[in-house]
Amino acid sequence: MESDLEKATTEAVGCSDVYNNPTTYQRLVNYIFGPEKKEVNPSSTTSTASAPDTVEHDLELEEELNNVPGSVTDINMGLSKQSRWRRLFFPQLTKHSLYVYGSVTALQNECARQEAAGVCIIHPFSPIRNYYIMFMVFITFINLIAIPMELAFLEGEHTEEFRMVIFNLCSDTLFLLDIAINFRMGVITEDSEVVLLDPKLIACHYLKSWFVLDLISAFPVDYVILIVKELEEDQSTTTYTASKLVRVVLFARIFSLIRLLRVSRLVRFFSEWEQVANSNMEAVRLFIRIICLFAMILLLCHWNGCIQYFIPSLQDFPEDCWVVRENLTHAPWIEKYSFGVFRALSHMIGVGYGSADPPTGEAELWVVMTSMVSGALMYTMMVANVAAMMTNVDAASKAYRSKFNHLEDYMSYRKLPKNLRSRISTYYQARYQGKWFDERAILNVLSESLKVEILGNLCTDLVKTVPMFQGRDINFINAVLLKLQCEVFQEGDIIIREKAAGDRMFFIEHGRVMVKTEQKFCTELADGDYFGEICLLTKCRRTASVQALTLCNLFSLSAEKFNEVLKDFPEIKEEMLRTASQRLWTLQDLKDQKQTPLSENGTDKIKETSTLGV
Ligand code: CMP
Repeated sequence: MESDLEKATTEAVGCSDVYNNPTTYQRLVNYIFGPEKKEVNPSSTTSTASAPDTVEHDLELEEELNNVPGSVTDINMGLSKQSRWRRLFFPQLTKHSLYVYGSVTALQNECARQEAAGVCIIHPFSPIRNYYIMFMVFITFINLIAIPMELAFLEGEHTEEFRMVIFNLCSDTLFLLDIAINFRMGVITEDSEVVLLDPKLIACHYLKSWFVLDLISAFPVDYVILIVKELEEDQSTTTYTASKLVRVVLFARIFSLIRLLRVSRLVRFFSEWEQVANSNMEAVRLFIRIICLFAMILLLCHWNGCIQYFIPSLQDFPEDCWVVRENLTHAPWIEKYSFGVFRALSHMIGVGYGSADPPTGEAELWVVMTSMVSGALMYTMMVANVAAMMTNVDAASKAYRSKFNHLEDYMSYRKLPKNLRSRISTYYQARYQGKWFDERAILNVLSESLKVEILGNLCTDLVKTVPMFQGRDINFINAVLLKLQCEVFQEGDIIIREKAAGDRMFFIEHGRVMVKTEQKFCTELADGDYFGEICLLTKCRRTASVQALTLCNLFSLSAEKFNEVLKDFPEIKEEMLRTASQRLWTLQDLKDQKQTPLSENGTDKIKETSTLGV
């Protein structure tokens, strides 16, 4: 069964103010999705995560966070006299690493752990790792553009070919170096709970995961081609050997396509980037996903364009191929490339431009079919991703609209009168303000301290305006806030009916109400006042009717919760009894024009006067 506490807290979070408080919001998000704070045992090689569960700890963390002077701070100065470059390999004090490790001490322990792990291990939270990933993403992307382009178009273009050889030799070396570096790169395991720093464990993890693919894609094809070309020049006298070498070079050209497997690095770098760059924020994740999507679409178009030209070039340009038809055999490479990409795009998008002539020859047919299929896949990917993104954007407004439509259907199905329908619609709009959240589910996954903090934010006005809360013990305010339930009444609504049984009292956050009795008593209450308490204190029937004069935002407290709170705070009960007593006197005065003197004990007074209301 659902507890009242949950119901009260849930309903009390009836608006979206929490999103305006970045600290609360960030802590809320971190609490739900992680990354959780880690307790690090310097003697072990792993660190474990633990969820934040105390207000004190959260406050400490917040204080530490606020003391972080910049985006990056060096915290390992005191560990040993490391040279400047070496500190780049250690985790740094950033807002993100502090959230992950929980405290500066834990982060320092992590540095000590890394120091103990041995020389030259790069920590996943070190600055050098970030720069390295960014650099490698850039190099990989350039490689993935340059490799097919060189293969397809730059054959025979001597100036470009020379530049490409230099570029290829450098990138081959870089990718071989990358393999070596990966054996010294700390690994964040998939559940983000452990950072592997032991070289043996890192090597084991790497060998089991990406090593083989990295090794194949880093194969130094250009060094091989260079050696083969050297041999070709030396032995060009023999026609037989020369033709054999040409075939070897051609094979090497095709073989060099394996370097395109470097695309796997791109995928990996993107996911690592997401991991390190605090993936908690939906906006960051969305941004990274959009960048990945565009990068992949761009690559697909480019590769397709290159294949369009590469296949006829492998066949030595047959008479009926598109290159000959377009008269491009001796055109500059940039013109060939532009036509190739244009042709690829026209197939992929399914537009007739550029492919007015049907494809001739089997090879061309297959190329066209492949690019058509890849285009269809590209579309599917794009539509699926955009649809997923659109679904997540402003889900609360969509849910609200759907619920509202449902309500309207219900009203017309039940044939409710027009006036009532409009009152229901107005109520719905005032209560939910265009957004609908499953607040119960949201708050249920939070700790008590976070709930209190959220409610504190939501009820700031109430706590400020209700005199009963002024200068009170924080425990009392928290106890009440957790039990409040948000309610909205429209102008003219009867909130309490005289002589009815009562089950709750109300605090006015905004709005005005009229208290009136059959004896023509009339008084107005407004922001910060409360009413409905007499019935709960005396366990009798309502002493007066209360009607909303304007749209009222109220917080209600049920009889059960009311008694629970007052039991723990007798001084508040005494104060409420005094106010109730005064109110009752006013009513009694009106009834029989007789003044009852104040007695020492407020409870007695209530007992004496409460019969008036029955
Ligand atoms: P209750 O009797 O539970 O329901 C009606 C409420 O009207 C009552 O509690 C008081 O909170 C409020 N009320 C009754 N008399 C007065 C008064 N004289 N002045 C202000 N409020 C009153």
